[in-house]
Amino acid sequence: MFRNFRMVSYIVFGRGSFNQLDEILSKQRKNSDSAMVFCVDDVFRDKPLKDRLPLGSRDMLLWVNVDVEPKTSYVDRLTRQIKDEMNTRGGNPPAGVIGIGGGSTMDIAKAVSLMLTNPGSSADYQGWDLIKNPAVYHAGIPTLSGTGAEASRTAILTGPQKKLGLNSDYTVFDQIVLDPELIRGVPLEQWFYTGMDCYIHCIESLTGTYLNAFSKAYGEKALELCREVFLEGGSEIEDKLMMASYCGGMSIAYSQVGVAHALSYGLSFILGLRHGIGNSIAFDYLDEFYPEGVAEFRRMMEKHRIDLPRNITAKLSEEEMNRMIDVALILEPLWENALGKDWKKIMTRDRIEKLYRRM
Ligand SMILES: [Fe+2]
Repeated sequence: MFRNFRMVSYIVFGRGSFNQLDEILSKQRKNSDSAMVFCVDDVFRDKPLKDRLPLGSRDMLLWVNVDVEPKTSYVDRLTRQIKDEMNTRGGNPPAGVIGIGGGSTMDIAKAVSLMLTNPGSSADYQGWDLIKNPAVYHAGIPTLSGTGAEASRTAILTGPQKKLGLNSDYTVFDQIVLDPELIRGVPLEQWFYTGMDCYIHCIESLTGTYLNAFSKAYGEKALELCREVFLEGGSEIEDKLMMASYCGGMSIAYSQVGVAHALSYGLSFILGLRHGIGNSIAFDYLDEFYPEGVAEFRRMMEKHRIDLPRNITAKLSEEEMNRMIDVALILEPLWENALGKDWKKIMTRDRIEKLYRRM
């Protein structure tokens, strides 16, 4: 069976394209009463972008905090807050949810748009194709590039038991606005680690057993752009990184990620590490799986004078280590992509623990 997957319905790309958001949303406002909910990363609370949001008089503006990666409890709370507000206005659901920020904020917007139409807790839907009802209209506007969250069919959340996305066709954005001006001025480390998420998507996709011409086409282009951005530099790097992120996301949409991502999910779950840095920490110990990719990654780190955190697992208890291994092992498609159908024989708990202990 071939995967029949949904893609983002509308994309606008270009410097200044954010200015078209008002017009884009006006088509989704069914009547003058219908509210849009803006979920915006709270780093923009005191930034000029705040005054550029095309807020209608009925719209809700939610400053979302992503100092830690999004949790199912946080998504549930935001959803409750929106429903309560809508109930005071007659009970109609909002016309849409707009996420403005990095991967975490976009994942929150996707998850909230799904939870407005699906009962229960978002933790009930962590997995593949568990979502029953279509989401409300949702649009994503990245202000950081690399995660591919703008292109993906998942909204990655940390729940009580695991870190796992709400993977479904309904998760995919209806609209994305790719404005390279918005990703200018990101702090170096955040820019680098988020960009390395994209680089690692490319390596994991291009070396995986799930690879096909579709994924390869996007993955190779994204990799080429990552090299230009992180090894050459120069003009238009925001445009290039933004397209690398999108193409990297499209590449893994039809294949999968691999060992670094599986290990990184465990690191995030137990140590609360952000996705980009967790990937980078894990990737640096994966020469045996991705020799060329890891060597090039180190050249990128050197060029940008990045010092990876070390010894981060040194103080973990046996129990924490075991839970970290459990979280990594839940991600079966990732292991299968990386190591093939017999991956369980290759990647034992013991081998995962040895890798984690070195980090
Ligand atoms: Fe990733």
